Amino acid sequence: MNLAGRHFLKLKDFTPEEILYLIDLAETLKKEKKNGQAHAHLTGKNIALIFEKTSTRTRCAFEVAAHDLGMQVTYLDPSASQIGKKESIADTARVLGRMFDGIEYRGFGQEIVEALAAGAGVPVWNGLTNEFHPTQMLADMLTIREHFGRLKGIKLTYMGDARYNMGNSLMVTCAKMGMHFTACTSKNYFPEENLVEYCRKEAVGTGASITLMEDVDAAVKGADVIYTDVWVSMGEPDEVWEARIKELMPYQVNGKVMELAGKEAIFMHCLPAFHDLETAIGREVYQKFGIKEIEVTDEVFEGGQSVVFEEAENRMHTIKAVMLATLKE
Ligand code: CP
Ligand code: NVA
Repeated sequence: MNLAGRHFLKLKDFTPEEILYLIDLAETLKKEKKNGQAHAHLTGKNIALIFEKTSTRTRCAFEVAAHDLGMQVTYLDPSASQIGKKESIADTARVLGRMFDGIEYRGFGQEIVEALAAGAGVPVWNGLTNEFHPTQMLADMLTIREHFGRLKGIKLTYMGDARYNMGNSLMVTCAKMGMHFTACTSKNYFPEENLVEYCRKEAVGTGASITLMEDVDAAVKGADVIYTDVWVSMGEPDEVWEARIKELMPYQVNGKVMELAGKEAIFMHCLPAFHDLETAIGREVYQKFGIKEIEVTDEVFEGGQSVVFEEAENRMHTIKAVMLATLKE
């Protein structure tokens, strides 16, 4: 398998074998790290991290992974660069491509990261757009495989806002990896039809299935993985909170959902999560709407079935695999 020089923009661009290769590589790198075995295979290389939206996990994962691989990192936040305001993405791509060996981009439309990749001449990695979050997918798949020993045939039920980056990406990933994906939400939040159609076509060859339904009991019964994400994503206006709470509260992941799924099921969330009043936004929502827990209850988040912190750790090992695979000579 040779992924040298490839961009990592969305999983639609990768075959199931290539995705498995990256997960396997991440598993090896994780073992090496745990054993204290150095793997500075990319010493002397430089990467740029562009963040037009905030981040804890993705930024730290790229930085730590880059350092472990022997690379130097330059971090650009939206206020500290000319991107988009004084300089187009196409021009930025050509400038950064001459200085750096690889570029990570987190921002708004998928077309921006695609344009950056088209002009950079070096690998570009998508650190989250409105439409997709591909590095998160590798971490999630590694976590699921570590837990169940396989991906094929796993039943993943995604609850909440299924028409944004996480719902879209999980649907594509499940289709590629032969998993059973169910979006369980109000029909206003189902993923976009074209993408559903693409995934159903992919599923034919892999044994996956794609289901969209509003009925919670039917969707969660027997699920191996219950997955959710925030109901209002970065970049969306505050005004949408009221409608989201009204429409998505029936799809909150709570004790009843986990009970229906069964004892063997795991709970996953890409994080950050609103499960208590320990965040400014969580408190604001409580003051306005009177709810203390939003997409997931504290009981589930902190409970024995939750693997959210293993999942967060795996961001680093999988991002390291992506950089190593695409940058090695
Ligand atoms: N899951 C995730 O992408 O987290 P950050 O926004 O903290 O990077
Ligand atoms: N849907 C969320 C994911 C955060 C990792 C967002 O875009 O804000």
